[in-house]
Amino acid sequence: MLSSMGFKTKQVHAGVTPDPITGAILTPIHQSTTFVQESVDEYMGRGYSYARAGNPTVKAFEDKIAALEGGTAATAYGSGMAATVAVFLALLEAGDHMVIADVVYGGTYRFADQFMSKLGVDVDFVDAADVDGIAGLLRPETKLVFTESPANPTLKVTDLAAVSELCRDRGILHITDNTFLTPYYQRPFELGADVIIHSTTKFLDGHNATLGGAVVVNDDELQQKVEFARISAGLVMSPMIAWLTLQGTKTLSVRMDAQSENAMKVAEWLTDHAKVDYVNYPGLPGHPQHEISTKQASGYGAMVCFEVHGGVEAGKKLMNAVELWSLAENLGSVESLITHPVTMTHAAIPRDERLAAGITDGLVRLSVGLEDAEDLIDDLDEALNRL
Ligand SMILES: Cc1ncc(COP(=O)(O)O)c(C=O)c1O
Repeated sequence: MLSSMGFKTKQVHAGVTPDPITGAILTPIHQSTTFVQESVDEYMGRGYSYARAGNPTVKAFEDKIAALEGGTAATAYGSGMAATVAVFLALLEAGDHMVIADVVYGGTYRFADQFMSKLGVDVDFVDAADVDGIAGLLRPETKLVFTESPANPTLKVTDLAAVSELCRDRGILHITDNTFLTPYYQRPFELGADVIIHSTTKFLDGHNATLGGAVVVNDDELQQKVEFARISAGLVMSPMIAWLTLQGTKTLSVRMDAQSENAMKVAEWLTDHAKVDYVNYPGLPGHPQHEISTKQASGYGAMVCFEVHGGVEAGKKLMNAVELWSLAENLGSVESLITHPVTMTHAAIPRDERLAAGITDGLVRLSVGLEDAEDLIDDLDEALNRL
């Protein structure tokens, strides 16, 4: 019945039912490492054995995120990076080739750049807004194409349906990180993607309370491969984190709508500021992929970035000049956060490579929260005018 219902109903009810023993409306936190067996080859209840393999509270969150993305199953992880690493371990082996967007979260870039070669996997970074450029890199050994849209931190948008089609024609998997828009605004399976990754640390939790990740699939064989990588490498989410993330996810749509509305106001205001060289927000008509954004997602999200005039020095000064905005390396929470990617989240990327990818020296990333937009704008205005 739930499967035919709307997103907001699913976000509250999917994966959770009142506890059959106590009637507790919230899923119990099954803080247990091991689960007693009936005999050597028989498990009790739903078959749980050991928390690295699975846990009922974690399963409740997995069922919810799978339902929200429209997938068949999900696995949850100790972080978004653990989710990404599980996908790489599950789907790639020595001799394979993968293509990955040149603008992705800095940790994803670092892992692809510094660890995949150790595993014998050849990696090409590509401008993922250029579908022909991706096509030109595909070869018989290519096993997957990895995208993130909108991308962290420049908010470059990839045409997910076009990349999915390109991959499907060649038997290549399209993996996409849907952290920035969440399934409330963007559902990559409907655009043909094969695997969806989340850092649940961000909008799904929404309260700066947890670190977690999720991988959603719509194919049993893929689920088995990813689960096997997770249990083998021990990348699993813990029950307490799953419980907090479950509660956060129940209000996702309300937060996303309010934060995105604030983001649009901040982005529009920044556009006219004398100290600002350019603003990137997919909701602005001037964003290079505004039309694709509007076609493939139902909202533009709460992330905005802009180039402050004066490069690295001005970027650093702005970080110290704001008061209401918190200088911090996270995003997606109810508190508004400000980040200077080149000295913080994306410092691992060599300067020439990041400049080529549009991660410029004065780039400022905003994660717009739930405060009054006017207060956020006033605080930014004062800080910018002090530069
Ligand atoms: C888009 C995106 N994907 C993945 C990650 C990694 O997530 P985590 O920090 O939970 O490991 C991040 C972190 O900022 C991110 O922004």
